[in-house]
Formats: sequence, structure tokens, C-alpha cells
Amino acid sequence: MRKLLVMDKKIVFITGISRGIGLEIAKCFVNDDYFVIGTSRSPFRINEELNSESCIHFIMDVTDREQISSCFNELKKINKIPNVLINNAGITKDQLFLRMKEDDWDDVLNSNLTSVFNITKLFIKSMVRHRYGKIINISSVAGLMGNPGQVNYSASKAGMGGFTRALAKEVAARNITVNCIAPGFIETDMTNHFQDEELENILNQIPANKMGNPQQIADLALFLASSKGDYITGQTISVDGGLYMS
Ligand SMILES: NC(=O)c1ccc[n+]([C@@H]2O[C@H](COP(=O)([O-])OP(=O)(O)OC[C@H]3O[C@@H](n4cnc5c(N)ncnc54)[C@H](OP(=O)(O)O)[C@@H]3O)[C@@H](O)[C@H]2O)c1
Repeated sequence: MRKLLVMDKKIVFITGISRGIGLEIAKCFVNDDYFVIGTSRSPFRINEELNSESCIHFIMDVTDREQISSCFNELKKINKIPNVLINNAGITKDQLFLRMKEDDWDDVLNSNLTSVFNITKLFIKSMVRHRYGKIINISSVAGLMGNPGQVNYSASKAGMGGFTRALAKEVAARNITVNCIAPGFIETDMTNHFQDEELENILNQIPANKMGNPQQIADLALFLASSKGDYITGQTISVDGGLYMS
């Protein structure tokens, strides 16, 4: 009975909500009657953007453990501890490895991988206690196939895959699933800087010969968060028009 009550309360925590994939995921979840807790470093008018009162935004840097902890304490006060966690915030700092600066390595690993440790560590406790939870990490095909100029980014996303599989094994018996979605090239601010020739080269590598859109990532996230995804765990699922096939 207790499990049912917790499952009935659909509360999702999404990092990196201010634009791109995170924003689309937030819209999709709020439309599916979730209470959405969204975060970003920049201010964001969540109620206006999602056209809903069932949401709240926190300015929070995913690399800052104090900020994460105080966000968590605020959520406890308002009784909105999530049972779905989507680690979406991420950055790129591309450079060929020989020229890659230590800061470019540290920033990308901290933002894309250590952040997932920071946040999951806090939120998983209540999932374990209630024996219910869904954790979805937004990875990248770069973590599966490796991209030249993205050693830092590819390493961070590959690390996310290992994190996901190991944690999935630890918590599966507690009715908690942990999965990765690995987008290919999706139209967002992260990918809007390509010159025509570069874009043509990219499209030639994608069997579907087109970029994806954030909605396609959001749809899979919603599926994995639902009971339809109950028996899927430890997986990295690509959404990439066939770019990477294992
Ligand atoms: N677009 C693609 O083709 C693609 C492909 C594969 C994987 N992905 C992955 O999908 C995720 C979303 O990408 P996107 O394309 O939507 O990127 P985006 O448009 O650049 O948005 C990134 C989001 O993350 C937030 N963010 C970045 N660093 C943060 C930090 N330290 N703390 C808190 N929030 C932070 C940003 O908000 P603030 O700047 O306000 O903090 C923003 O809301 C990323 O993990 C990315 O690696 C994207």
C-alpha cells in the first residue's frame, strides 16, 4: 500500500532545464501530470515556460555540492522528494587532445559525470526507502563510439554508462531502475554552431541523414519513467538515427 502511495505521487527532478533537451523533457513530464522540479545555473521562469503551477525551479550548479544539498533540504521542507531523477545537465569543451587544457578536462568531467554522483547520492536514499525509483542519465553516442576532439566529453559519457550499469545492479532488487539515453545529434544550442560543410559531413554519417529533435529524447525518458519501463535497467539506449549500432 505504501509503495502505491509513493508511485501515485509523480515527482520528477530534472537538471539542466533552461533549454534544449532538458526543457523538452520538462514539458513532456508536466503534460503527463508530473510535478516537475527543474534546475539550471541561470534564472528560469518555469511556471511561464511550462504553462503550469505544478513545477518549481532552483538555481543550482550541478558541480556544487552545497547548492545541491540546500536544494534537497528545500524539497524536504515542501515534501517534494522526487521518485524520478533525470541527470540531463551537461557541457562540451571540445579540443583535440594534444591541445586540451586541464581545466577543459576537469570542467567537463565535473559537469557531466561527478555531478551525477553528487545528485544521485542524495536522491536515491528516499527511493531505496520507498522501494521505488527511476533514474535516467542523459549520456551521448560520443560515450559509445568516441568522437575526435571530444576526449573529455566521450570519457565523461562513457563513465556515465559504467556508473549506470553498476548502480543498476546494486538497486534492482529495490525496484529502482537506472538507465542511460544516448542521443546522437539533436538540434539544440549544443549543436547549433556547425558550419555547412561540417553539418553535411555529420549528416552523411547518420543513416537517417537528419538530426534528431529534443522531443524524441523526452518521449523515451517518459517511457522509461513509466511502469512500461519497469523491466528495463542498466541499459544505454541510443536515439541517433542509426549513427551508432553496437
Ligand atoms: N544536443 C545534442 O546533440 C546532444 C547529443 C548527445 C547528448 N546530449 C546531452 O544532452 C544533455 C542536454 O544537452 P542539450 O543539447 O540540451 O544542451 P544545452 O542546450 O546546452 O543545455 C544544457 C542545459 O544544462 C544546463 N547546465 C549546464 N551546465 C550546468 C551546470 N554546471 N549546472 C547546472 N546546469 C547546467 C544549462 O543551463 P545553464 O547554462 O543555465 O546552467 C542548460 O539548461 C547534455 O547532457 C548533453 O551532453 C546532447
